[in-house]
Amino acid sequence: MMPAKPRLVRVLDRTAASATITIDGDVVQAFAGESVLVAVLAHTTRLRTHEVDGAPRAGFCLMGACQDCWVWLADGHRIRACTTRVVDGMAVLTGPPAGPADA
Ligand code: FES
Repeated sequence: MMPAKPRLVRVLDRTAASATITIDGDVVQAFAGESVLVAVLAHTTRLRTHEVDGAPRAGFCLMGACQDCWVWLADGHRIRACTTRVVDGMAVLTGPPAGPADA
């Protein structure tokens, strides 16, 4: 369950095409071409949790250098949220998808 209050609020009137994506199963309206990081943080307060201590993370450098924003797509591919653009129909997971080891 994602927290209700987003970390980011878009302040500009966007003219880009809207894109419907899911974030951990929640249906979210985003904008095609914006970063996955923006789409997630405009929806909730964290991008992911730290794999060691579980602390909430929201990315750090926002430019593809720090590796703090890895998330997953439903097909199991890991992506850097800050350098991956939203595509309509994208299914984003903020934690690793359940696999054979998790079943
Ligand atoms: S936030 Fe640093 S690589 Fe994405």
